[in-house]
Amino acid sequence: MQWKNNKTHYGFIAVILHWLVALSVFGLFGLGLWMTQLDYYNSWYKQGPWLHKSTGILLFFVVLVRLFWRWLSPPPAALLSHKTMEIRLAHFTHSLLYLLLLAIMLSGYLISTADGRSIEVFGWFSIPASITSIPEQEEQAGWIHLMLASLLIGLALLHATAALKHHFIDRDRTFKRILGK
Ligand code: HEM
Repeated sequence: MQWKNNKTHYGFIAVILHWLVALSVFGLFGLGLWMTQLDYYNSWYKQGPWLHKSTGILLFFVVLVRLFWRWLSPPPAALLSHKTMEIRLAHFTHSLLYLLLLAIMLSGYLISTADGRSIEVFGWFSIPASITSIPEQEEQAGWIHLMLASLLIGLALLHATAALKHHFIDRDRTFKRILGK
């Protein structure tokens, strides 16, 4: 399997980045819902947000690398069997997935830094606060973060359903391509 994408196949780097982001998104969503229900005496009360924030920041850099790699090594062309409408819808969905990922990370950053504190990433480095003056910043950004994350999960499920439809019903190579085959 080649490293870079070509006109017909996704390369190793794009495949790894796709699945790394997909797994992290579902994991972070589950962790986010769970950790916000914990009471103060639970041992995960502080550890949960620490893990969620640290992973979220690292994921931000992974998404930047992914976008840079996409620019350097453009994805394969759509399969000839795909209809124009289908191709347009897929492009729109993919752009929206990237946009939602970035907007969720920005809103997460605004929640965590609303009180002026920086974000410690696994104790390796920290991301300083910058914007702290939005009225009720923590609550507003928190609401937006949850709404956008729910939208992302809904869209990702729809996207996954489309991929499985191509695999099991149309029996084309769409799903196999993102597995690196
Ligand atoms: C949160 C989870 C996910 C996100 C954010 C995501 C995002 C994306 C994006 C942005 C692309 C376009 C890649 C590019 O050309 O730049 C893509 C491609 C693809 N994804 Fe996902 N994905 C997720 C989960 C899944 C799952 C669970 C499946 C399958 C079960 C899947 C199947 C595919 C397939 C088959 C393609 C290639 C589509 C094509 O070649 O036209 N994705 N994904």
